[in-house]
Amino acid sequence: MPTTATVQSPVSDAGFSGCNPTQRARQTRLTFEPLDAPFGVVVRGIEWSDGPPDAEIVTELTRAMRRHLLLVLRGQISPSHEQSNRFWGAFGPLVMDTLDGQFHYSRFSTEKAVNNVMRDKQGGNLVVAGDDGMIELGWHSDQSHKPQFKTISLLENVRFGPGAVPTAFRDMYTVCELLPREMKARLDGKQGIFLDPRLPGPDKLPRLCDAMHPIIAAHPVSGRKVVFGSDWTIHRIAGMNAEDSEETVAWLRDFALDSAPYYEHFWQEGDICVWDNFGLQHRREFQEPGVERTMRLFEGVTEG
Ligand SMILES: [Fe+2]
Repeated sequence: MPTTATVQSPVSDAGFSGCNPTQRARQTRLTFEPLDAPFGVVVRGIEWSDGPPDAEIVTELTRAMRRHLLLVLRGQISPSHEQSNRFWGAFGPLVMDTLDGQFHYSRFSTEKAVNNVMRDKQGGNLVVAGDDGMIELGWHSDQSHKPQFKTISLLENVRFGPGAVPTAFRDMYTVCELLPREMKARLDGKQGIFLDPRLPGPDKLPRLCDAMHPIIAAHPVSGRKVVFGSDWTIHRIAGMNAEDSEETVAWLRDFALDSAPYYEHFWQEGDICVWDNFGLQHRREFQEPGVERTMRLFEGVTEG
């Protein structure tokens, strides 16, 4: 029997739907309201500061992330790039803090314009729908072609005009848990060969690959398993001939389409989505020209 008595939360639970009750009183002013979706929770009450967040905030948000996979921060002030980095740096190494300092984003963060990305005045990056609209982005985990996993991704909405396309998410943990036993056995220990889609292929730029990851991969902190591989980065499965590899990757893509819990997020201006980039994949439809859709990118977190 537990020995600790249940204590009433010291703060209002308006909007708190019991998504993370514990036996101890909640220590923060955060509120949580699950989305009407298979995953995801709206979080209110985030405040930025000049230092790192309190340990209780980190604990509550980590617990919410493990359980809900997608946090929609709503109603907070838009953070500066530095405030965001200080806050999210408490959840693991920022992507620019990897040992070589360049692991993921040197090019991404320094070029003026790549794929509709431009620098904003606060030192971040804005993704702006231009005169040609925006290309479709297939299902992916950000930076899946890099050797390290990016575990947390962040995106803030600045402008979401009428007709703007949503960001869709799907849960690859569940896909892994639904795999038939025979397919699990077939994939056990198999490595995927990943290529950076922005670089020429191996025929033009000879190399084995840009990264290798297990097809059934474990989250570097929680150990929870996913089927890992973005639509445009997985090239081959090592240990299979080309035909078997192609068939298996196509089968996995179809299986994920059929079985993944799925949610489309129509942004409210000012929303900041923070998600488990290891277990949730995301995508975006083609954006028609003439529609305002501006997103702000933050660095995010890599493995702990
Ligand atoms: Fe992305």
